[in-house]
Formats: sequence, structure tokens, C-alpha cells
Amino acid sequence: MRSKRTKARTLSVSRRDFVKASAAVGAAAAVSPAALARAAWAGGSDTVRVGLIGCGGRGSGAALQALRADEATTLWAMGDAFEERIEGSLNGIQNGIRESHPALANRKIQVDGDRRFSGFDAFRGVIENSDVVILTTPPAFRPQHLRAAVEARRHVFCEKPVAVDGPGIRSVLESAEIARRNGTCLMSGFCWRYHAQCRELFGALHEGRAGDILAVHTTYNTTGWHTPQPRRPEWSEMEWRLRNWHYAHWLSGDHIVEQAVHAIDWINWIFKGAAPTRCTAVGGRMTRPEVPETGDVYDNFAVTYEFEGGARGTHMCRHWPNTPSDNTMYALGTRGRSHMNPWAGRPHGIDGDAPWRGEASANDMYQQEHDELFAGIRAGERINDGVFMAHSSMMAIMGRMAAYTGQVVTWEQALNSSESLTPATWEWGDAPPCELAIPGRPRNS
Ligand SMILES: NC(=O)c1ccc[n+]([C@@H]2O[C@H](COP(=O)([O-])OP(=O)(O)OC[C@H]3O[C@@H](n4cnc5c(N)ncnc54)[C@H](O)[C@@H]3O)[C@@H](O)[C@H]2O)c1
Repeated sequence: MRSKRTKARTLSVSRRDFVKASAAVGAAAAVSPAALARAAWAGGSDTVRVGLIGCGGRGSGAALQALRADEATTLWAMGDAFEERIEGSLNGIQNGIRESHPALANRKIQVDGDRRFSGFDAFRGVIENSDVVILTTPPAFRPQHLRAAVEARRHVFCEKPVAVDGPGIRSVLESAEIARRNGTCLMSGFCWRYHAQCRELFGALHEGRAGDILAVHTTYNTTGWHTPQPRRPEWSEMEWRLRNWHYAHWLSGDHIVEQAVHAIDWINWIFKGAAPTRCTAVGGRMTRPEVPETGDVYDNFAVTYEFEGGARGTHMCRHWPNTPSDNTMYALGTRGRSHMNPWAGRPHGIDGDAPWRGEASANDMYQQEHDELFAGIRAGERINDGVFMAHSSMMAIMGRMAAYTGQVVTWEQALNSSESLTPATWEWGDAPPCELAIPGRPRNS
């Protein structure tokens, strides 16, 4: 292993080739040569070894973005619960890099057989063999993987949501603090935070162009996830649930946590990270086929968050086939209002006493995340998204808790909750139950 590591560290990627290739596909390396020059990578070589944990759709995309973000990144280790996922992901990443950087394809991807790890412990091998780790498994594993990565002093790209329960969020907050002390970067996958138009709009709102924000409403309405797979005889309960992870609330957090959390993050963002004091919610399951593989997740939620000073944040999300999709934010302030609809490319602006229109163009927010992460690493910056990524995930979890139980849930109750949804150890075999929550009846949330 040591000899292979040495080989990667001495790998020399021609800077001119990289920039030329990037420009050719319009995906220019966003890292300025000046930033690259400022900090050679530790150990004398500027090659950064990227490790991917969770080789699904998002992980494959994120790995490709990491390779495109910086001339001397190399995909070096991969891990997944299921071995066959690694091969599929690797093919996709190879095709992507051949398309954008044909001259560099072989140098950019060097995942030798002994650096492909499968099973529940795959994360350990990847972390050991990487400088930057991409965490893109189902959310239930994130606190464990993040802790291992920051304790090993790795830079991390951490997809949202960052946990599915209160204990997980507390662990993530501790990990964020470890990363801060270590001086390593921790970037979240809350991608709208890296979207140029959203940044411009939230900046204007934070400057007070709409006055004090009194109320904000966000939506994340879609037709649902992919079709779940029926159980096969050779699959244990755990394997089956993991292959359908979206549909088990203890793996995904339910769709309000797994998906709609993006729009709940807007509420956190607009109120500059202030935590809600409490929330009430409704939710249910009306359209999911009642078959075992659809697990125990709801298909609709509506939450009201209350903030100190009287402001309110409301959120609605649903997974209903044959209904319109919608992902918007409507904010009402003392001097104006703003309606943002980035899916529809709706111009970002503020109407009211002092109308304002943003000028930024839409950008590739996923690429932007990695461009900034690797530029930050090179420049010795300490990017740390830890607190907001944990708090936005917590807000979504507390909304789910309120909907599942029918109770008012305070921030303190949610954050200090001892209820852990995940098993003490991850093993193939039995799995936690999938049971539909009925508000007002005792049950774990
Ligand atoms: N920011 C965004 O816009 C965005 C978009 C899509 C997904 N995501 C997030 O990314 C994460 C992954 O989503 P996805 O769509 O790629 O799902 P996916 O199912 O396509 O990929 C997840 C992968 O993780 C693997 N896996 C499961 N348990 C594992 C474990 N313990 N160790 C290693 N690998 C494991 C699975 O086998 C699978 O290959 C989720 O948290 C999701 O919410 C974010």
C-alpha cells in the first residue's frame, strides 16, 4: 500500500494540459493558478487523493466534480456496501472524465483493486487511503463516517442530510468541532448555498432589503423517489432495506429529512442560522402503494417553525404522483417580499419599498462546491459548514418528529433526544422494523 501511495504523490499532471482540457469543454478549472501555487500538498507533491464512500448517483457525480475542480486530484479509493456498485460508479466517472479531460483520464482515476472496499466497514479502508473523503451513503451512516474521517484528519465533502436523529446530529456537531480544531475543511452538500443566484438573494435579504423577515414559506413537492425493489429470497432483511433505503425512515430520515431538507435549509439560511424554538407539524401517507417495499415513510408533511421574536417558517413537502412539482421560497419582510423558484429559473428579486433584482447568472452549484472546497484546501482555508448543515438537518428531523407524534417539539427536545434510529452495530441479517407512525399514539419517531 505504501508504495502505491508514493506513486500517486509523485504523479505529475501537466497544469497546461489540464487547463487546456478544461477550457475545451467549458468546465474550466476554477482553481486559479495563484491559489494552486500558494500551497503545495502536504508531503511535497500536489496530488490530492480523493476517496469516495457511497458509490451511488450522488457519490459518482461528486467524485467527478472533485476530479474536475483541481488539476491534481486523483480518485484513489472507493467504498460501498455492495461491491457491484463500485464498478458501475467507476465506469460512470471514467466516462465523465474522458469526456471533459480526455488527456488526463488515466491519471485522474487510479483505484487499484486493493483500494476498492465493500461491506459496512468499507469506509475505514477509504479513509485510510485518502486525503479528501466524499461521504455519500444513505444518511443514517453519515455521523459514523464523518467522525471517522475527521478523527483521521481528512478533509471532507459531506452530503446532506447529515443524520436521521438527535444523537446523530450531536455527533456531527462534535465532528465539526474536531474538524475546526484540526484545521481541516468540512463542506456540506447543501448545494443551494453554492448557487450564485441564491447567494446573491440571501445576501440582499440579510442586508435588510426586504426589512425584517416576518415569515418564510418553502416547498419541496415532487412526484416521489424511484420505484422500490421487492425482496429477493437471497437478501437478508438488512440487505433488502438497505437496497431500498429511501423507504425506511431509520435509514433515510423520511423524505422531509432526505430530500426536502434543502428547502428547510433555506429557512435556516434566511434567519441567519437561528434555531427555531419549537415546531408543530402534520403528515401522512396517502398515495404510496401499500406494499412492504415502500416501508414506513410518509408521502406528505407540513411544518410550522416558530422563532424567537415571533417570526414563522412554514414548509410543505409531498411525494404525490401526477401532481405538479414545486420547489420555491416565499419570504415576507417588513419592507418587501421575495419569491424564489430556482427549479424554474425564476429571477431572484425583492418587491416592495425598494425593489431589487439580482444580476448573477445561474451556475453549476455542484461543481461550485468542489471548486471552492479544493481551492480552500490548496489555499489553507478552513471551510467548515458543520454547524449549519447539522442545524438544518435537525430542523427537518424535528419536523418529522412533530408529524409522526402529533406533539409540539421544541428545539431542545429534538437536539437532546436520546432516541437513536440506527442499530448499535451494522450487520447483515435482521434490521430495525418499518412501522408507520400514527400521530397521538406512542411510537418511536
Ligand atoms: N445535494 C443533492 O442535491 C443531492 C442529490 C442526491 C442525493 N443526495 C444525497 O446523497 C446521499 C446519497 O444519495 P444517492 O442518490 O447517491 O443514493 P444512492 O442509493 O444512489 O447511493 C448510495 C450508495 O451508498 C451505498 N451504501 C449504502 N450503505 C453504505 C455503507 N454503509 N457504506 C458504504 N456505502 C453504502 C449504496 O449501496 C449506494 O451505492 C443521500 O444522503 C442523498 O440525500 C444529495
